[in-house]
Parts: sequence; structure tokens; C-alpha cells
Amino acid sequence: MKTIPWQDRFKVGVPEIDIQHQGLLNIVNQLITSIENKTEWKTTSAIIDSLINYAYTHFATEERYMLQGKYPGLLKHVEIHVDFIRKVFNMSQKIEQKDIVLQREILTFLASWYTTHVLGMDREYIPYITSKGKPGTSDTQ
Ligand SMILES: [Fe+2]
Ligand SMILES: [Fe+2]
Repeated sequence: MKTIPWQDRFKVGVPEIDIQHQGLLNIVNQLITSIENKTEWKTTSAIIDSLINYAYTHFATEERYMLQGKYPGLLKHVEIHVDFIRKVFNMSQKIEQKDIVLQREILTFLASWYTTHVLGMDREYIPYITSKGKPGTSDTQ
């Protein structure tokens, strides 16, 4: 699988979220490179862990914006985020060094989840979070 280049169409227009989406894509790409190059499993496994951590942080940020913007689809969106963490976590527990099939499966899942989610659900909250005040710090705009 080839790495996924960052594209302007991934932007939602809130710098804090766009930076996190780039960060998330960077980790997905690190994982693609790591698995494709059959890197030492310890390294690949650590990338999967950091992906879960980063996703967790990013989802919390996004959910904060949606809550503040009174986005009506918040709960549904949160469920999808939780489901993603659960799936990746479960997969990561099962994968082993020689399990190329499962390694490929996680790559396919992550790559398609990323593009589908960022270009799909993540665009639906845009009118709510860009027209209202921003949560948290005021130095991110
Ligand atoms: Fe997102
Ligand atoms: Fe999201």
C-alpha cells in the first residue's frame, strides 16, 4: 500500500483540527511504511500504540468543538469514534510479527477509515464549529 498524501480537501477549516488530522495521517503513513518495509515488529507495534493515543486525543478535541457548537450529531459521532478505538485496539492485541494478513487488514482498515471519516462525518460538523466560538485556548486560530 502506498502512503496517503495530505490534501487540501481534508481541511475542515479549524487549524487545531486540521493540524491533528495531519498528525493522524502522518502516523497512518508511518505505519504503512513500517509494515511495507517489514520493519522490526517492536517498532511497528509502537506506531500502532501511538496511533491509538493520538486518535484518542484528537477525538476528544473534536468532540469538545462539537459540544461547544451544539452540533446535533454529536452522540452519533462520538459512537463512531469509540467504535474506531475499539476496533483498532482489538486488532492491535491480535497482531503478531508474522501475521502479515492481519497487518495488511489493519492498514486497509485505517487507510479507508481515515479518508472516509475525514471526508465524510468530519465535514458534517463544519457549519456548527466554524460559526460558533472555539473551545479551549484562544491562540490556535
Ligand atoms: Fe477527525
Ligand atoms: Fe471525527
